[in-house]
Amino acid sequence: MNNIAVLMACPISRYLEQELENSFKVFKIWQFEDRNQFFNTHGKSIRAVVGNATAGVDAELIESLPKLEIVSSYSVGLDKIDLVKCREKGVRVTNTPDVLTDDVADLAIGLTLAVLRRLCESDRYVRSGKWKKGDYKLTTKFTGKSVGIVGMGRIGTAIAKRSEAFNCSINYHSRTQKPNLNNYKYFPSVIELASNCQILIVACSLTEETRHIVNREVINALGQKGVVINIGRGLLVDEPELVAALVEGRLGGAGLDVFENEPEVPEELFGLENVVLLPHVASGTVETRKAMADLVVGNLKAHFMNKPLLSPVV
Ligand SMILES: *[C@@H]1O[C@H](CO)[C@@H](O)[C@H](O)[C@H]1NC(C)=O
Repeated sequence: MNNIAVLMACPISRYLEQELENSFKVFKIWQFEDRNQFFNTHGKSIRAVVGNATAGVDAELIESLPKLEIVSSYSVGLDKIDLVKCREKGVRVTNTPDVLTDDVADLAIGLTLAVLRRLCESDRYVRSGKWKKGDYKLTTKFTGKSVGIVGMGRIGTAIAKRSEAFNCSINYHSRTQKPNLNNYKYFPSVIELASNCQILIVACSLTEETRHIVNREVINALGQKGVVINIGRGLLVDEPELVAALVEGRLGGAGLDVFENEPEVPEELFGLENVVLLPHVASGTVETRKAMADLVVGNLKAHFMNKPLLSPVV
């Protein structure tokens, strides 16, 4: 397979690069200053693209790669891939589900605890020497709270399971009610869900339908004591509305791993102690990132050996 040309759409990890280079002829797009020249010279040889949650494959890229057969994405979300175009052109698409579920769910709980118990603020309190001048303020309990999960897929289900251990009541919204989750309360609308929970955890995939699913109305329904946790995609939440609600005190807090325009984060949030900000790292453990890389390479190898794909989407 060493003569099969694979294009990496952005830097991902050294391990993935090495694993790809062991089996394929790898082109790293960021190493070419003139992209047009790159496509003119190599476009016709590229048979696979590897992307992630930052850089995927849009219609234009698909058009400039006439020999493209497969897109193997180092992410579970597919929002950066033009799936319609891929189907139209017969291009296969794979992602990295399952291997990252636990880490993302763990982080959702971690963010919830960090926001409610002010973990980051209290760490800053100790480091700055303020502890010596007085006691830390009281915070908010997580155990027993009412959790609302937007999107009850693999990750949403894993978050629910963890929340159960905290004796939380579990409520959710998804396109359809899940038949075997009778302990969890289903809400057909996100506003109803937000009206009936204290912690709203956004865990659905980003599509045309879910863009800004958490809007001003939902934020207001959640209310002054409510908390938004987003481990999905930035565009699931109307970010200017979220920022306004936090600045105006209409929302109790937020834990955010993802943003609309990463790595740009609204600076209005930097001074707020009821907000915890992470640099899109929900799946970012050594163990999981290796498993994701192995799955990306495994899908490519399966494809070029005419075997069934390991995690096909298209
Ligand atoms: C869980 O919460 C319910 C309702 O608040 C309470 O009655 C029950 O004792 C709690 N269970 C545990 C194990 O703490």
